[in-house]
Order: sequence, then structure tokens, then C-alpha cells
Amino acid sequence: MSDEIDTFASPIIPTTMNILLLGSGGREHALAWKMAQSHHCNELFIAPGNPGTAGIGTNLDISVTDFDGIKAACIKHQIGLVVVGPEEPLVKGIYDFFEADPALREIIVVGPSAKAAQLEGSKAFSKKFMQRHQIPTAAYAEFTLDNIEEGKTYIAAHTLPIVLKADGLAAGKGVVIATTHQEALETFDEMLVNKQFGEASSRVVIEQFLSGIEVSVFALTNGMDYQIIGHAKDYKRVGEGDTGLNTGGMGCVSPVPFMDDTFMQKVEERIVKPTINGLAQEELCYHGFVFFGLMNVEGEPFVIEYNCRMGDPETEVVMPRLQTDLVALFAAMDNGTLIDANISYDTRSCATIMAVSGGYPGSYQKNKVITGLDTVNDTPNTLVFQAGTALGQNDVVTSGGRVLAVTAYGENICEAVVTATQRLQKIEFEGMNFRRDIGYEFENK
Ligand code: AMP
Ligand code: GLY
Repeated sequence: MSDEIDTFASPIIPTTMNILLLGSGGREHALAWKMAQSHHCNELFIAPGNPGTAGIGTNLDISVTDFDGIKAACIKHQIGLVVVGPEEPLVKGIYDFFEADPALREIIVVGPSAKAAQLEGSKAFSKKFMQRHQIPTAAYAEFTLDNIEEGKTYIAAHTLPIVLKADGLAAGKGVVIATTHQEALETFDEMLVNKQFGEASSRVVIEQFLSGIEVSVFALTNGMDYQIIGHAKDYKRVGEGDTGLNTGGMGCVSPVPFMDDTFMQKVEERIVKPTINGLAQEELCYHGFVFFGLMNVEGEPFVIEYNCRMGDPETEVVMPRLQTDLVALFAAMDNGTLIDANISYDTRSCATIMAVSGGYPGSYQKNKVITGLDTVNDTPNTLVFQAGTALGQNDVVTSGGRVLAVTAYGENICEAVVTATQRLQKIEFEGMNFRRDIGYEFENK
């Protein structure tokens, strides 16, 4: 599309490529929407995708961890670029699988090696990495069954609240913020002794509680150079006023008012640069997105977590604001010209609001018919990104907890939120729930 900004195009960037995007959520719908606008994108395939991505490219019925199936699709469709949405295939080594196979080696893979993906796959690994590179993060200790008694003593002496984290991937459920020592000790036992998250909780990280405002910052890197491609504030709790259970994310806004030049400079100097330099020094092969989950503690940034992928629903506001051609950025990441990229953003604000199934993040029903999608899709300044949806007999139906995200642009956050809320109210399915207070602390901004 002509309005995509690609002024840094290097001579090595192929004119067009066939692209395979892995994943099936709102994040992938937003990435598909963005990549389809690039004049470097020839055919776009999504595996497995959802009904939303089917409207942009071709869905392939292949699971994100079926590496042999993915290989066959790459060869059949002459794929030049694979973009990995979720963390699971990265932690399971999809990058390394492509590198090790002469038939796949030339394909650009957006995502880190399995070893580097441990930044997300193991809390203990990421904490040690941050310590080695003096990256500000909460104080911590790690425990296994071998030193469980030491862990209990550590908990008993710890100030409240106490943060307990299962070391491995636990589908976003592995973090508990305990407000009493009793609760902390029970959680500790549940994770280590009762193996609440199986192997993922065979090691537990216990961490100091950081009080502040969270923000997610996103960079694209080849392990040497990087570009920051956006940031967002995610609203993780299910209930208004940030109450109730944690979810994958109920909505996002971007830009975040406190992310001014001073704060951003601290983030780059103290966190982003030491992280990328650390990857290079330790020869951790990384070609992809780095998600810095940060806490702003009275104006000072700390790392809460790294993820080796884009956030969801952060992507649903970051991609609509990014004006630079994303496919050209991926090619630049691959050929060492990322440093020359011009990153430019839409000056407008974006808000996205998630419509979730009744009961989520607990148990919920599926197969509820969704109405109003087409009307909202056709409204100016609005984008609907599908997440937990499927094709029913004649309609799009719900198939997950987080069903869809409605993103709107506005002159400020308040306007973007109001528009997104109005549009979302035109969509209906039985049991639909959403937060009406996304961006609440930024009223009039
Ligand atoms: P994580 O999976 O590490 O992102 O943790 C999930 C959520 O728990 C984060 O988004 C924070 O809201 C919260 N959290 C994690 N670590 C801390 C901490 N050290 N202090 C305060 N809140 C935390
Ligand atoms: N929205 C938080 C995440 O993607 O992990």
C-alpha cells in the first residue's frame, strides 16, 4: 500500500515475498493486517489463523508446534519469511529447526533461538541475565525441592507482598502476588511440592514486589542493532478499577502519557541497550521482537519480565500506530540494515478493548454467535481484530476466552477509548464482557 513508509529500503530487500505467520489470536490478526499493507508482501499465509486472518490471507490448518507441517508448507508455498506470533514454538526451537535444515536455512525467521527464548521461557534465566548485565529488576531468589526449607525461611523473613513465579511457561498463570506469609507459603508448596504447573514450577523465583505503573515496550532486533517499534499500557485485571483475576489483557492504550523523552531515555540506556549488548556478548542468537515488561517506579524503569514475542493485546494498538513498513523492517533486521530504518508513528492515539466470554478468565462457554462484526469493520478509524473466534455454520462464533479486540484511533487516549467503546457496543454475543474503564488514569490526555 502506498502509505507504508519504507524510505530505508536496502538493495538486498527482495521486491516481494511470500510470508507465513504463525498463530491464531488478536496479535496475529493485527500482524497480518499490518504485513498485508506492505508492497514487499506477495502472498500471506497464516497457520492456523482465525476467521479474521482468513479475510486478509490464506489460513493453513497447521498447528504452531507442528514443525514438520510448517516445513512442508514453507516449501509448497515458497515462503521467504516466517513470523512467529506466540512464544511456544520459539521456546520449543523453531528458529533452530529452520537453521539446521538446508532446505529452510534461507528463510528469514522472526523470532529468537530456543536458547535466547529462555529470556521468556525461564524466569530464573532472565533474572540471572539481568544480574549479569546490571539491568534494573526486582531483587529475587530461586528455589527447588532441594532447598525448599531455605525457601520457606526466605519467605517468612520477606516483606509483604511477596511475588512468586513458576520458572517456566505457565500460560500466563504462573505469577502469584501473595499478601500474607501464609498465602505465600501455601503457593510455594502448591508450585514446588504439588507441581501445580508440572515441570514449569519445579523451580520457583521469589521476588520483591515493585509498586508502580506497568508499561510494555517493544523492540525489533537482530541481536546487534535494534529499533523500538512502539509501546503500550495493558490492563491485565478482568475487573474495572484493576480488580479481579489476571487475564491475558483486557485492553491497551498507546502512547502512554508518562513515556516522555526523559523516561524513554532511561529505558533505552538502562534496559534496552544493556539487553541487546548482553545478547551479543553472550552470543545468544536473536532475530525478532523483544517485549520489555516494565514497571515505572516513581520515574525509574525496572524490568518485570521479558517476552520473546509481541504482546497481546499490545500489538492491536502498536501495529495501527506504526507507519513504517513492517516487512521491510524484518528484511532489514535480517540483512543488518535495521539501524538505517526510519520508525514513524501515527500521531493519533490508539485504544483497544477486548470483548471476552462471560466467565473468563475462569471457565466459559463457546460457540456463541457474534453479530455486528461487519458493521463495525466498515466504520472509519476502527479496526476489529479477531482472537478467540471460529466459523460456525453460517456465522462467526466464539471459540476462546478473549474473543476479539476493537481498536480505535482518537486525537487523544480519551477519544480513542470512547470511540472503541461505542464501536464495541455494536458487537454482541451471549455473555460478552468488556472493561469500560480502559485508560481511566489518563482522562483528558
Ligand atoms: P509476569 O508473568 O512476570 O509478567 O507477571 C505477571 C504480572 O504480575 C505482571 O504483569 C505484573 O502485573 C505482576 N508482577 C510480576 N512481577 C512483579 C513484581 N516484582 N512486582 C509487582 N508486580 C509484579
Ligand atoms: N499482554 C501481555 C502479554 O502479551 O504477555
